[in-house]
Amino acid sequence: MGRTPIYTRVYNQLRYQILSGELPIGSHLPPERKLAARLGVSRNTVVRAYAELEVEGFIAGKMGSGRYVEALPPAPALSRIHWSSQHNYTHLHAAPPHMAELLAITDTYPDTINFAHGDGGKHTLVTSGFPAYVKSAADQINSYFFTSVQGFPLLREQLVRWMGFEQVSSPEQVCVTSGSQEGLYLITSMLARPGDCIVTEMPTYFGSLQLFQSLGIQVIPVPLDQEGMKTDILEGILGRYRPRFIYTVPTFHNPTGYTLSLVRRKHLLSLSEHYGIPVVEDDAYRHLHLDTPPPPALKALDQAGHVIYLNTLSKLLFPGLRIGWIAANQHFIQLVRRLKELSISTNMLGQIALANYLKADALTPHLARSRNLYRQQAEVMEAHLQPLTALGLQYEKAAGGFYFWVSLPEGVEARKLMQTCRQKGVSFTCGDMFLLRHAEQPYIRLCFTHEPPSQIERGMSIISEILTRQKEEA
Ligand SMILES: Cc1ncc(COP(=O)(O)O)c(C=O)c1O
Repeated sequence: MGRTPIYTRVYNQLRYQILSGELPIGSHLPPERKLAARLGVSRNTVVRAYAELEVEGFIAGKMGSGRYVEALPPAPALSRIHWSSQHNYTHLHAAPPHMAELLAITDTYPDTINFAHGDGGKHTLVTSGFPAYVKSAADQINSYFFTSVQGFPLLREQLVRWMGFEQVSSPEQVCVTSGSQEGLYLITSMLARPGDCIVTEMPTYFGSLQLFQSLGIQVIPVPLDQEGMKTDILEGILGRYRPRFIYTVPTFHNPTGYTLSLVRRKHLLSLSEHYGIPVVEDDAYRHLHLDTPPPPALKALDQAGHVIYLNTLSKLLFPGLRIGWIAANQHFIQLVRRLKELSISTNMLGQIALANYLKADALTPHLARSRNLYRQQAEVMEAHLQPLTALGLQYEKAAGGFYFWVSLPEGVEARKLMQTCRQKGVSFTCGDMFLLRHAEQPYIRLCFTHEPPSQIERGMSIISEILTRQKEEA
């Protein structure tokens, strides 16, 4: 305080009391002489402090009735701020807006033959029988009111039954989310902070990459082959970088369709345990095998509680439902619930409809029917891909999931092909969306489940024609 004039100290003290509300608006200030005596200063000191406060509009004096605290003075005029430019500090711009672009396809090109979206198609709605459950839920009063943040208890019970993992035996180990995308957002926000790193297969589901990059999280890529993530390479990475978690789509991976072998599943889990790094298993395609069922989920093999399991009804039923779930140990789920609380809960109408659908065991026959249809759809698409191998195109036979991951013949550019096909009424996704960087690369992803067989015929004929022409011109 050394050189601060005494009146400034008195002024500061009073100003603080006024701004903090200790001296409320309208309250009376002591007369100068009285305050001077209380503070042990001269009357002049108090007079000066009061004068300053008066000039600044903090206090006012009424003739005969002393001084009192005024309404706060107007804030000094600041230069105009463009509030919208204040958001540049976020990491959002690190990731291209792939999700928005992809979802806009239906509105922008309503008549397009759509091999871009990853879902089971509109033609399965009626056979699923699901609309009747929605209609019945719409008649229930509870559908319009709150349920618990963690999700409708009856739905969580049914999800436990549906998963059938001995590791997840209680609804308390489940949190319902608005799609698995929200689930991944919650998990990532729990486990990692901007600047941290995580590890995942590359290529991988673009929605996860967009999420990680938007949150400022570094993604360390691990290559994969027909047996899934190369766990020998993962081992070196875990030791060096200590990522916050391993994100993996081990079963009918998006976009490649590859499935992690049982040997690698066990290796992955032993690495997770050895380094104490959790695994986030995104199991969206598990039930969508076309031939033999896949190996057990990582969660079903998890002896140490290191696997955080994520799944969704978007691929089993319909993506507009926006219902997914996280299953993990109870302590983790309690923490997730604290975060989920911030968006209150997932829509109740959908949760009730789904709970009753699962309770009636309607999902299993629906999936059996869907798999038969998907098999046919994959065959129709493959019948068009196969002849193109003569030009140098490559693909793997689909064993499950929704996609063909197609390597284009040399000289055919993925983005150019995509744009020309889009103009001719067919949409698909370009492989660079599934990579960290927009590198020139030869892949496209074709979803074989969204369109019925007749539309697949038409769409693939258009693609084949354009691709053949572009190859000839290359
Ligand atoms: C691997 C994977 N995870 C999550 C999602 C998103 O699912 P949801 O609609 O439940 O958010 C997708 C959708 O394509 C996906 O392929």
